[in-house]
Amino acid sequence: MGLNYVTAKEAAALINNDDNVGFSGFTHAGCPKVVPLELANRAREEHAKGNPFKVGVFTGASTGDAIDGNLARANAVKFRTPYQTNKDMRNAVNAVDHEAVPYFDMHLSQVAQEIRYGFLGGVDVAIVEACEVTESGEIIPTSGVGIMPTICRLAKKVIVELNDKVPTAMRGIHDLYELQDPPKRRHINIFEVQNRIGLEYVKVDPSKIYVVKTSQENEGGGFAPVDEITSKIGENVSNFFVGELAKGNIPANFLPIQSGVGNIANAVLAAMAENTNIPRFEVYTEVIQDAVLDMMQKGKISFASGSSLTLSNEAMQRFYRDIDFFKNKLVLRPTEISNNPGLVRRLGVIGINTALEADIFGNINSTHVMGNMMMNGIGGSGDFTRSAYISVFLTPSVAKNGMISCIVPKVTHEDHSEHSVKVIVSEWGVADLRGKGTYERAREIIDKCAHPDYRPLLHDYLSLTKKGHTPQNLYACYDLHKAFLETGDMRNADFSKHKK
Ligand code: COA
Repeated sequence: MGLNYVTAKEAAALINNDDNVGFSGFTHAGCPKVVPLELANRAREEHAKGNPFKVGVFTGASTGDAIDGNLARANAVKFRTPYQTNKDMRNAVNAVDHEAVPYFDMHLSQVAQEIRYGFLGGVDVAIVEACEVTESGEIIPTSGVGIMPTICRLAKKVIVELNDKVPTAMRGIHDLYELQDPPKRRHINIFEVQNRIGLEYVKVDPSKIYVVKTSQENEGGGFAPVDEITSKIGENVSNFFVGELAKGNIPANFLPIQSGVGNIANAVLAAMAENTNIPRFEVYTEVIQDAVLDMMQKGKISFASGSSLTLSNEAMQRFYRDIDFFKNKLVLRPTEISNNPGLVRRLGVIGINTALEADIFGNINSTHVMGNMMMNGIGGSGDFTRSAYISVFLTPSVAKNGMISCIVPKVTHEDHSEHSVKVIVSEWGVADLRGKGTYERAREIIDKCAHPDYRPLLHDYLSLTKKGHTPQNLYACYDLHKAFLETGDMRNADFSKHKK
């Protein structure tokens, strides 16, 4: 019996109001593209007839506009988890009260298992992108995996977007493995970054597969060119690592690197590539970005493990052209393995993530602007930060032309606590918090990382309270934020009114 081929519109018609839909991929990489568009159209049609039509959306991480953008604009989302970066989805999750899309911002490594545990409701339909699907039910993912093995196994219907723009030579890059759940979970046999423990395909009962043939380009945008600030942050991180190598704190042949998403993370890897005192190293991360490919080609990165190839379109084409070269230098895994905190600790992964704001005691806000507006979500940063060999956070010292200090007395939302954060780096320097008491940490962060315009203000704040392990002043700790909300510039904060 052959596979069931359908059009995207027919596939969308298989999805009902109130269904929970799981999507493959991680970032835009590996996400389906045409069925979500038809799903959004279907929602609009139903809404026009006065019928309700919303679905729950599970993904590996953020997605491209095809999923989050289309479904948010069609008002077709019942709830969203675990992570988003799309402007329209962001507006939807930040909308007023009952109009907002309920958003469950969770650690990415936990999504598949919490679906299996039944915490999030079942998965009715999986929509996944593949470069190959066989009549026996083997599905080969494309450039992103995320939660694909779990949703394919659990869903009653699996809609496969078979994308002919992705070469079937991708087969062999993936290592697909699903954890057993407690009390039956056993150790994960990964002791080195390049170890493989699973299959190169997801296998499901072919009778539940519906195949939609597509020919869709990757949705990848480019990265911003490295600017003065990001290049200085990259240089500071690299010099810090060189110092740690010299002290013997990092083994001479280095440790695997995790680097977060976005321009700053990409720029830091580029700076590490330039630094001849940093040896060839491996990457154990969630998102493999352009800089990793460049560094593999230059021989600086020997192997990369991740959950996605989040590449610009130019880099994706370069990857396809040279797929044999890259194929034995990288592996794409489900996120519960790529981000597994136990493996992060076992492998000694050095975590590098970006903060929106850090406070002078070392707590990090990665998610909320001014305490209430969701930016993206915690993503995988918590999976790595808590368990890393060294957890490094990056931040430019200021945002919005200096009107916001990214170093503040108290973060307005806490994603990573001072107990997990070891090093903070801005364009001004490196604050090493390891082994330091609270006052020392505060002075280190202010003097090494804060913008000089804000250093006197932050020292002023620190001098307000003279006792207690953490000299926090609850009357004054948000004065910088209040100054921004009231005057548009944090520099207008004045702590003198709190001095008796
Ligand atoms: N207050 C208000 N706005 C701020 C701010 C602050 N303290 N700090 C930064 N911003 C604004 C910037 O001005 C910029 O705004 P714009 O888009 O209007 O220009 C925006 O936030 C993004 O900042 P940018 O400095 O460009 O950082 P980024 O693109 O590298 O993203 C995070 C930073 C924190 C949003 C991003 O890294 C993230 O989502 N992290 C959480 C998930 C994660 O770490 N995943 C990786 C784990 S492997």
